[in-house]
Amino acid sequence: MARLELDGKTYELPVVVGSEGERAIDISSLRKDSGYITLDESYGNTGSCISNITFIDGEKGILRYRGIPIEELAEKSSFVEAAYLLIWGKLPTTEELSTFSALLTKHEMLHEDMRFHFEGFPPNAHPMAILSSMINATGCFYPQVLGDGHEQFLMQAARLISQVRTIAAFSYRKSLGLPNIYPKPTYKYTANLLHMMFSEPYQDFELLPEIVQALDLIFLLHADHEQNCSTATVRIVASSKANLFASAAAGVCALWGPLHGGANQAVLEMLEQIHQSGDNGSKFIEQAKVKNSGKRLMGFGHRVYKNYDPRARIIKKKCDQLLAALSKKDPLLDIAKRLEEAALSDSYFTERKLYPNVDFYSGIIMRAIGIPINMFTVMFAIGRMPGWIANFKEILESLDGHISRPRQIYNGPQDNHYIPIGKRK
Ligand code: CMC
Repeated sequence: MARLELDGKTYELPVVVGSEGERAIDISSLRKDSGYITLDESYGNTGSCISNITFIDGEKGILRYRGIPIEELAEKSSFVEAAYLLIWGKLPTTEELSTFSALLTKHEMLHEDMRFHFEGFPPNAHPMAILSSMINATGCFYPQVLGDGHEQFLMQAARLISQVRTIAAFSYRKSLGLPNIYPKPTYKYTANLLHMMFSEPYQDFELLPEIVQALDLIFLLHADHEQNCSTATVRIVASSKANLFASAAAGVCALWGPLHGGANQAVLEMLEQIHQSGDNGSKFIEQAKVKNSGKRLMGFGHRVYKNYDPRARIIKKKCDQLLAALSKKDPLLDIAKRLEEAALSDSYFTERKLYPNVDFYSGIIMRAIGIPINMFTVMFAIGRMPGWIANFKEILESLDGHISRPRQIYNGPQDNHYIPIGKRK
């Protein structure tokens, strides 16, 4: 129990302890008992749920999906297997994995009428706008799967994970004015995405295993990250009993911003800008340290990690391996490494515990694969889909069933009155 003294009264508040020893004070009866609410504007100290999916220890730089360290999954698993683990809470047997893979293949085609929706977007529309609109539209094409129940949920989850990839590829092709390439059922998940993006009707894209593995790893590393901005959004939308497609579409919108998933695009833009200006990075670092300069070292810092993001370490290694395998040299990788080195020996960054996050090196891998910058955040969204679905499922199955609805402290005018328009100053 925690004890809180307010206005001469003592309130006892239960302490909740998670399976990894994380502690929270349960204030759910505080307002009823005392009339007070708590205030925590950007939720830095607020636990919004008890979840069994993903554990992060930001101080120690630990990330685990369903208890399994991200390093183990990165080395031994695949994106589709990790998706199963996140959504169903356990590693699949051989049979379960092949059934799940078969379902993904079965649902990879979009409803043919969805083609016309793509035609309605202007050629320069951002693919994240197309992605969120088309995910929501998908729900309209399959109303039969929108009901409750295990079977329906399975169909929705498989359709969403599978089709988000087809939508992404079609929006990329649309932005270049190229004909759509339909999925090939013989290809595995990530290979199929690359095929739909980069093959031509007259020539298949060469699926180098190093490229397929690197992109699959990026998806796996992005697959869940507990209560970040987009996942919290998905949970809030789901709590109103909106369907999975609507909830995931909202997640895409939340992910888009440069402080969240949009950071991978912003990192590459920053590195290109530094490269073109001839700066070795030191000028940019100085600007990023000035509070109102409008600049931040993108790909650095994290609300939860106050240590090196474990995903960044894995991605950095993969980045070196991929460029070596493709015999490519990328000046932006050199700039990124110089920036990292400079920031990690600068007291501004060390005192604030700002380290590279998942987005710092992922863009260099995607650039080496040939994915254009404006598709980077779409790749993040494809990867995050299983996490959103797993969190949606937790809400669906929660016994509580309450709608998420924060309170506020009102600080606006009091005793204001309506003034007829002619008498207003
Ligand atoms: N460059 C320079 N200064 C920074 C940076 C940065 N990247 N990040 C934080 N700071 C400073 C910030 O100005 C503040 O300084 P002060 O204490 O003097 O006011 C202090 O560090 C704390 O920052 P904050 O904005 O209060 O921290 P936050 O937890 O609200 O924000 C963050 C976390 C990720 C939004 C922020 O670090 C940031 O904007 N980073 C750059 C964008 C980025 O890479 N985002 C991707 C996050 S990882 C992918 C994902 O999960 O979305």
